[in-house]
Amino acid sequence: MALLLMAPRRNMKPWKDVLLEEDPNLDIRIWPAVGDAESIQFAVTWNHPGGELQKFPNLKAVSSLGAGVDHLIKDPMLPAQVDICRVVSPSLSRQMCEYVTTAVLTRHRKFLEYFAQKQRGEWKPLENVSADEQVIGVMGLGKLGLPVAEELAGFGFQVRGWSKTPKAHDQIETYAGQDEFEPFLNELDILICLLPLTPETEGILDLDVFRSLNHPAYVVNTARGEHLVEEDLVYAIDRGWVDGACLDVFETEPLPDSHPFWNRSQIMITPHIASVTPPSETAQQLVDNYKRAISGMPLLNVVDRDRGY
Ligand code: NDP
Ligand code: OXD
Repeated sequence: MALLLMAPRRNMKPWKDVLLEEDPNLDIRIWPAVGDAESIQFAVTWNHPGGELQKFPNLKAVSSLGAGVDHLIKDPMLPAQVDICRVVSPSLSRQMCEYVTTAVLTRHRKFLEYFAQKQRGEWKPLENVSADEQVIGVMGLGKLGLPVAEELAGFGFQVRGWSKTPKAHDQIETYAGQDEFEPFLNELDILICLLPLTPETEGILDLDVFRSLNHPAYVVNTARGEHLVEEDLVYAIDRGWVDGACLDVFETEPLPDSHPFWNRSQIMITPHIASVTPPSETAQQLVDNYKRAISGMPLLNVVDRDRGY
C-alpha cells in the first residue's frame, strides 16, 4: 500500500515530510520514482501528465493538491472506478478573501490612480464613491466564493451571488442557474469569478457578459484562465465597458512573455497565488482520505465527476 505524490515541476519533498509527520508508517513515493506500480492505491496530484494515472492497476482514489479538480477531470484516461476528492481548508478561503478584498478595495479607493499621481508629484483628491453605491457580483458561492461574498458585504458593498442551485442568504442577493444569469449581471460595478472550470463555465467571461455590466466595470478572475475569453477582455477595455481587471489565472501559465496583457496598464497580473494550499494544514485530510480509500470508506470532500466539481 503506497501513496503517490505526482506534481511535475513542484517540489513535493515538503509534502512528503508533513504527511510522514501525520503518519510515519506511510509508504510515500514521489513521481516519477513510483517503484512498483501495483502498490500505489492513492495519489495526490497537480497537473499530472495525461494518462499517467492509468498505470496503477490498484489505484482507488486521487486527491487534487488544491481546490480545483479540472486538471483531473480533463484526463480522459483516468479510470472510471477511481474516486476524486479535493482539498478544502479554512486557510484557502481566508487567502482568497484577502486577495479578492485587496483587488476590490484597490479599485474602489482608487489606489492605482493615487500611485500614478504620486509618481507625477500630483496632489489631487478624486471623487469618493460610497461602498453601498457599488454593486459587486460573485460567480460561484462555494467554499471560496461564499466567504468572499460575505466579506465584501461586511464592507457595506451591495453583493450579489450566482450559483448553479438556488441559495438563500440574509446579506447577499442570490441568483441561480442560466435563467437568472442576465439579471445577476445587470448593473454590476465589479464582477468576481470563483467558479469551477466545467464545460458549462468555460469561456463564460465573454463580450456578452462585459456588455451587460455597468460601464465601466471591473473584473476579478481568480478561478481559471479558461473562464475568460482573453481577446474579449481587451476589446471590452478598448470600448470602455471595462476599466480594469485583476487576473490571477491564465489560459497559459506562466503567462507567455509575448502576451498582450503584459502591456496593458489596466490589467493587474499575479502568478496564480491568490490562494495556495498549505501543506501543514492539509496533511491530515490527505492522510484521512488515503485511509478511507484503502479501507473502502466514503471520501471527504469528494467530487461529483459528472457535475465536474
Ligand atoms: P466549490 O466547488 O466549493 O464551489 C463552486 C461554486 O460554483 C458553487 O457555488 C456552484 O454552485 C457554482 N457553480 C458551479 N457550476 C456553475 C454553473 N454552471 N453556474 C452557476 N454556478 C455554478 O469551489 P471552490 O469555491 O472551492 O473553488 C472555486 C474555484 O476556485 C476552483 O474550482 C478553482 O478553479 C479556483 N481556485 C483558484 C485558486 C487560486 O489560487 N487562484 C485557489 C483555489 C481555487 P452550487 O453551489 O449550486 O453547486
Ligand atoms: C486550486 C488552485 O485549485 O490553486 O487550489 O488553483
